Amino acid sequence: MAKEILVTGGAGYIGSHCVLELVEAGFAPVVIDNFHNAIRGSNTVPESIWRVEEIVGKKIPFHELDILDETGLQNLFKKHRFSAVIHFAGLKAVGESVQMPLEYYKVNLTGTIRLLETMKVHGVKNLVFSSSATVYGDPAYLPLDEKHPVGGCTNPYGKSKYFIEEMIRDLCKAEPDWNAVLLRYFNPIGAHKSGKIGEDPQGIPNNLMPYVAQVAVGRRDYLNVFGNDYSTVDGTGVRDYIHVVDLAKGHIAALKKLKENCGCKIYNLGTGTGYSVLQMVKAMEKASGKEIKYKIIARREGDIASCFANPALAEEELGWKAVFDLDRMCEDLWRWQSQNPSGFSKN
Ligand code: UFG
Repeated sequence: MAKEILVTGGAGYIGSHCVLELVEAGFAPVVIDNFHNAIRGSNTVPESIWRVEEIVGKKIPFHELDILDETGLQNLFKKHRFSAVIHFAGLKAVGESVQMPLEYYKVNLTGTIRLLETMKVHGVKNLVFSSSATVYGDPAYLPLDEKHPVGGCTNPYGKSKYFIEEMIRDLCKAEPDWNAVLLRYFNPIGAHKSGKIGEDPQGIPNNLMPYVAQVAVGRRDYLNVFGNDYSTVDGTGVRDYIHVVDLAKGHIAALKKLKENCGCKIYNLGTGTGYSVLQMVKAMEKASGKEIKYKIIARREGDIASCFANPALAEEELGWKAVFDLDRMCEDLWRWQSQNPSGFSKN
């Protein structure tokens, strides 16, 4: 029988792509989500999960559940025999986290503690955690490897990722029967090749590529480029954009690592290549055939000039490597955005 894997926040952008890859790799994902970042589809199943079911031709067990709901978590773990948990659920908007730090710490930290406690009670001690390159803060050197100091991020969202990493490391140290893989994502973009699932930010997108895609499709007039006076190739910020399907496959590799009783391991998931904001605009113009208008405005507070990964450790120890290039990321993003101009919502 296929192994049951609990996916928290599985209806979100990265979560839904991961659920799809799990099914294709022969696992049996069970999804929980509280609809904070997901649109309801038919029969209370999130639209993203419904579409994954359509792609894979299989039903995917879904429970509407908040990770803060201890009783709900207990009941869920009584109902299923999970062999591992992939933990995506959490609040994720950097700017909002500065405005509502307590909410961010409550959901991200307390939610994770409740999840870990429930896992412990039920003897499920294999975890993949969705961390972020933001834990590195402003890079002291580039490319960033996993030995780079962490904890330098300045916003509550980033700090919550760092605190959770530390919590999991301490847990694995204290109780050696735990295994955890902490994945530090760089900048996931793109969408599944079907164009049926993708990123669907609610309101005005905070991140570059969803915004660029909405300009290309005519939902927004122009992009605001946050500063062109950084010391980079053209003065605009440089990031390591990675195809979300490559990123999702990194989680399958992480599950395999857990089976080796690996203890606590940490890996960057990036491509190793950085592109500037203006290079991304060009690439998206090429993929969409649309002009993307932009205006240069002031820097965004808290932004760094450049950030890209050294992904060598993941290749060495997980046998994982990003394979999709920038053109493919933009083509897949455009397919999703042009087929779903309003995202998952029907109107
Ligand atoms: N940018 C713009 N205009 C926009 C949005 C972004 O010019 O409308 C620029 C930013 O200044 C930056 C680049 O595009 O130079 C990428 O910005 P994103 O907001 O897309 O991504 P960040 O690298 O700032 O942040 C992302 C995630 C965080 C995560 C961080 C970790 O959003 O959750 O990567 O590296 F913490």
